[in-house]
Amino acid sequence: MSALGRPRVHLRSTDSTNDRARELAIAGAPHGTLVTASYQTAGRGRQGRSWTAPAGSSLLMSLILRSPPALLPLIAAVAVCDVAGGDARIKWPNDIVIPRAGGLSKLAGILAEGRPQEGWAILGIGLNVAVRPQDLPAELREKTATLGAPAQEIEATLERLLDALGRRLAEAEGATLEAWRARDVLRGREIAWGADKPAGSTRRGRAEGIDGAGRLIVALADGGHTTLEAGEVHLRPA
Ligand code: BTN
Repeated sequence: MSALGRPRVHLRSTDSTNDRARELAIAGAPHGTLVTASYQTAGRGRQGRSWTAPAGSSLLMSLILRSPPALLPLIAAVAVCDVAGGDARIKWPNDIVIPRAGGLSKLAGILAEGRPQEGWAILGIGLNVAVRPQDLPAELREKTATLGAPAQEIEATLERLLDALGRRLAEAEGATLEAWRARDVLRGREIAWGADKPAGSTRRGRAEGIDGAGRLIVALADGGHTTLEAGEVHLRPA
């Protein structure tokens, strides 16, 4: 398979690098093809959310992967942490956060999309390399973390991330799961989920880590356990 990051398309501005990469994948672009942008006008996040970043402040990338592994979202989270350093933690399934006194501030987001039946995935990553809090809307300042590097570091950060992804994609699943668990910010904490469902369906429990398929294991108040496949969980205030 070819190296990650080649061929590469860099766009000054686009709606979403994931959408550009998807077009290329459908047109037959090879494994490792990379789309980057300095700015997105309609960046997308998980659960139908948007992803915004001031122009030129962030690493915005989408990678085409042929025959992607089942644990791709977890692998990507671990690779981003390899680059982000010791403070970075993972909020299941793959938000990269920095714990702060007031809660968790988001450093990076990962959006893995694809057509499993056709054997490809798009791995979209937004990493706040040089975001300056003063350039963010007031309501996002507390919730957003940044590497605090100069914008000139975005390219070198991309190189490090592609290297980390290459290494993590090649390792055994057990090693990825171990690295993921070492960064798990939810383990042992009270969480809630289902808040997006009809009123009254919010559920609560204590996060107990992930199983071998990346599902979140939750201990329930009645002594039982459940596992969550996907979705969004929230920390409950201490
Ligand atoms: C999330 O945390 O909800 C996922 C955010 C993913 C954002 C990245 S930025 C590059 C790529 N293009 C997109 O439109 N989204 C991903």
